[in-house]
Amino acid sequence: MLPKIKNLLKDLSLTRETFWNIHEETGEFLNLLIVSQKHKTVLEIGTSNGYSGIWLAEALSHTKGHLHTIESNLKKRFPLATENFKKSGLSKYITQILGHAPEAIPASPHKFDLAFFDATKYEHILYWNTLKNRINKGGAIIADNIISHKKDLKDFTKEIQKDKSFTTIILPLGTGLLIAIKN
Ligand SMILES: C[S@@+](CC[C@H](N)C(=O)[O-])C[C@H]1O[C@@H](n2cnc3c(N)ncnc32)[C@H](O)[C@@H]1O
Repeated sequence: MLPKIKNLLKDLSLTRETFWNIHEETGEFLNLLIVSQKHKTVLEIGTSNGYSGIWLAEALSHTKGHLHTIESNLKKRFPLATENFKKSGLSKYITQILGHAPEAIPASPHKFDLAFFDATKYEHILYWNTLKNRINKGGAIIADNIISHKKDLKDFTKEIQKDKSFTTIILPLGTGLLIAIKN
């Protein structure tokens, strides 16, 4: 990773709580997964100020892939993310989608290697139902906060775990990651 991007991520990590960003170890894991699996098409639901998007797009710069990231907060977080993506030099690997995820998802590409859920928790089942048939074989759906928001995400977790077309695991990384790999 270029020192410029490393330093930017370090600076942004100082405001992690303000912008509800993923933990550094979660970013490292997602970055490594994309590079090792040569994932190309990634969807993120919940851009915030772009911290996780930089981890994802940095990996996609190696696989020649592209990130589509959705954010509904027009006044603050969406433009901040645009600014941070510019600073990272990774903008060409990123398409920002402004809007409420349930309406914005259909405007994104049809198939993904990875979909990362990090927006409002009560919509996870809806995202799952919309996206489970749009993940390429060997691709993944990953949800953050699975341990920190265990109660809120209980029904979603159950639903995803009982789907035989995915193999799931929960990793105690950051706030807890649910990883579901498409068989
Ligand atoms: C937990 S933060 C995302 C953090 C970001 N992934 C990171 O780690 O840098 C959740 C973001 O999702 C956005 N959000 C919440 N519900 C949304 C929805 N239904 N559609 C689009 N964005 C949404 C919020 O405005 C917020 O910026």
